[in-house]
Amino acid sequence: MKNIIMTGDRPTGHLHIGHYVGSLRNRLKLQNEGKYDEFYMMIADAQALTDNADNPQKVRSSVLELMMDYLAVGLDPKKMTFLIQSEIRALPELTAYYMNFVPYSRVLRNPTVKTEIKSKAFGRSVPIGFINYPVSQAADITAFKANLVPVGEDQEPMLEQTREIVRSFNRIYKKDVLVECKALLPDNEVCMRLPGTDGNEKMSKSIGNCIYLSDDSATIKKKVNSIVTFPRDINEPGILKGNVLFTYLEAFATNDSFKDFYPEFKNLDELKNAYKKGGIGDGRIKKFLFEVLDKELSPIAKRRVELADKKDELMDILKAGTKKANAAADATLAEVKDAMGINYFA
Ligand code: TRP
Repeated sequence: MKNIIMTGDRPTGHLHIGHYVGSLRNRLKLQNEGKYDEFYMMIADAQALTDNADNPQKVRSSVLELMMDYLAVGLDPKKMTFLIQSEIRALPELTAYYMNFVPYSRVLRNPTVKTEIKSKAFGRSVPIGFINYPVSQAADITAFKANLVPVGEDQEPMLEQTREIVRSFNRIYKKDVLVECKALLPDNEVCMRLPGTDGNEKMSKSIGNCIYLSDDSATIKKKVNSIVTFPRDINEPGILKGNVLFTYLEAFATNDSFKDFYPEFKNLDELKNAYKKGGIGDGRIKKFLFEVLDKELSPIAKRRVELADKKDELMDILKAGTKKANAAADATLAEVKDAMGINYFA
C-alpha cells in the first residue's frame, strides 16, 4: 500500500503557535523524514466558507496568508503538493455520495462541530453546509487515498467520521476502493491544546489570545509580558498548575534552551522544582519564555515578510499543485462511481 499523507487548514486568518505545536511541527517532521509517496497540503477554503459565507473576501485573502505561514515554517513545495480545496471538482461530488452513508443524528453528534456551533453564535440558523463539513472533509481525505493525517486533536472526530464512511462504502459496494486513515497527533500532551495567553483553554483568533507565527519579536515580548500569573511574593512557592508560562515552556523549551538562556538549570524539570520551592519571580520566567519563543519564531516571521513579496510565486505553486491534485481526485471519483455502478458511459 502507498503511504499518502494529507492534511489542511481553513483559511480564516494567520496561524498561531497552537497550530504550530499542534500540527505544523508534525507535518515538518514527516516532510523531513521523507517516508511517503505523496503529501497533499490543502487550503480548505470551501470549508472556511461554511461559516463565512457572508465574508468570502476574508477567506480569499487568507489563502495566501496561509501559504506564507506554511512556507515560512519550512514546508517545501518540492516535497509536497499544495492545493486549493474549492478548485478540486471531484470533492463536492464525492461529498454528495458520502452524505448517503451518514445518518442525520450522526452529524449532530460530532463533538467538535457541537463545540463550534456553541461558540460561533449562529443562533438558530446553523447552515447545513456547516453541519455537513465533516462529511466533506471525508471527501478531502479519501479523494487522495490518504492513510495518515497530521492534525490537531480537535480533528479526531472528523477522522472517525471519515473512517465510518470508508467502512460503509467498502462494505456496501464490496470493494476496497476507499482507504482508512489515521491521525498523527502531537506526542507531547500540552501540544494537543495550547491555551491562550489569557489562560483560556483554547488559543483562538476570536478571543484575541494568540501568539501568531507572523508576530515580530517586539509583539511576542509584549504578549509574553501580558500573560497573567498568580500574584505572589517572590519567596512564596510558585504554582505550576494552570500556569500558562510553564505550559508554553513545556511546548517550546529544550535542554538547549537552558544552555542558551538559563544555564543555572539543565532542564525544565530542574526549573520547575526550583520554582515550586519559591525564590523565582514570574518576571524571570517570562524573560526566559520570551527568549525561547523568539529564537524559534522570529526566523519564521522574517521568512514570512520576505514571502509577502512573492505572491505570484505562491499562486503558481498552488496552481501547479491543484492541477496535480485534480488528477488524483478525478481518478478516485471514477473508481467510486464504478463501484457504485453509475459509470454509464465508461
Ligand atoms: N478541518 C480542518 C481545520 O479546521 C481543515 C481541513 C479540511 C482538513 N479538510 C481537511 C484537515 C482534511 C485535515 C484533512 O483546520
